Amino acid sequence: MSWNRRHLLDIASLDAGEITTILDTAREFKAVGQRPIKKTPALTGKTVVNFFVEPSTRTRISFELAAMRLSADVINFSVDASSFRKGETLKDTARNLEALNADIFIVRHQASGAPHFLAQFLKGSVVNAGDGAHSHPTQALLDVFTIREHKGDLKGLNVAIVGDILYSRVARSNIWALTKLGANVTLCGPSTLVPRVFEQMGCRVTYDINEAIESADVINLLRIQHERQRQTMFPSIGEYSKLFGLNQARFARTKPDALIMHPGPINRGVEIDSEIADCERSVVLEQVTNGLAVRMAVLFLVNGGAKSAQPVD
Ligand code: CP
Repeated sequence: MSWNRRHLLDIASLDAGEITTILDTAREFKAVGQRPIKKTPALTGKTVVNFFVEPSTRTRISFELAAMRLSADVINFSVDASSFRKGETLKDTARNLEALNADIFIVRHQASGAPHFLAQFLKGSVVNAGDGAHSHPTQALLDVFTIREHKGDLKGLNVAIVGDILYSRVARSNIWALTKLGANVTLCGPSTLVPRVFEQMGCRVTYDINEAIESADVINLLRIQHERQRQTMFPSIGEYSKLFGLNQARFARTKPDALIMHPGPINRGVEIDSEIADCERSVVLEQVTNGLAVRMAVLFLVNGGAKSAQPVD
């Protein structure tokens, strides 16, 4: 086991051993989730704050359930019902939550670096649940967990990530996790959204969707991040879909066992044909299920892991 961190802020700073420790721990917690009684006492007496300043469905609910499964007390911070709306700062809000003895802060924020900023002065643990276009570590971890379940060792696997790479924290975190575990990563999308500078992260960049998907063992489709684009980076959604969407004709060219992944939320008919999103090879909902186990593992480990509690009762 390789873990000695109080925070989980990104994937870039983790080594392969630490990533593997999270994945192995998540496998144990997934087994717990398949038992009739799905709760463990690992975080009994601890307080976890879901500190989401930007909207979320999957990540927020998954972290909430993960904390409850570990027997923690959970506070869901709702920005619209908070004094944020009266001008209270992020720092003051966090320090007030800490004054209530919160132990773990799960932070989603539209500004890159917000979780790192909070980690500088909070005494508790900070877990990044997505910051701007920078990092979404637990999404990448649940993605590699899902790939590992289907394909085994990631070394030498061909993974294509298609779509809006430039504005995507999911893409950046996946690139770090996949390359650290030895996968070959190909990025594809409009040149405005997939600049060649990403080659410096150890990826291949192509603007030919067929080339990207034909040799892929895994195809991860990303949505267009309208909320983070400052201007239109391509002429129209229709054109994007025509040139880069995974439609039936393109799907027929993929390997027969290629996994189809998407972090959600899906824009059906834009980056992926609706039937393909729901097909047998799609693991979109498995990703959500695995996210729960991965987030239980992360909360368990940042709380001190086996030094503080046992993963299973
Ligand atoms: N994949 C993901 O982060 O989804 P949410 O924005 O709904 O949390």
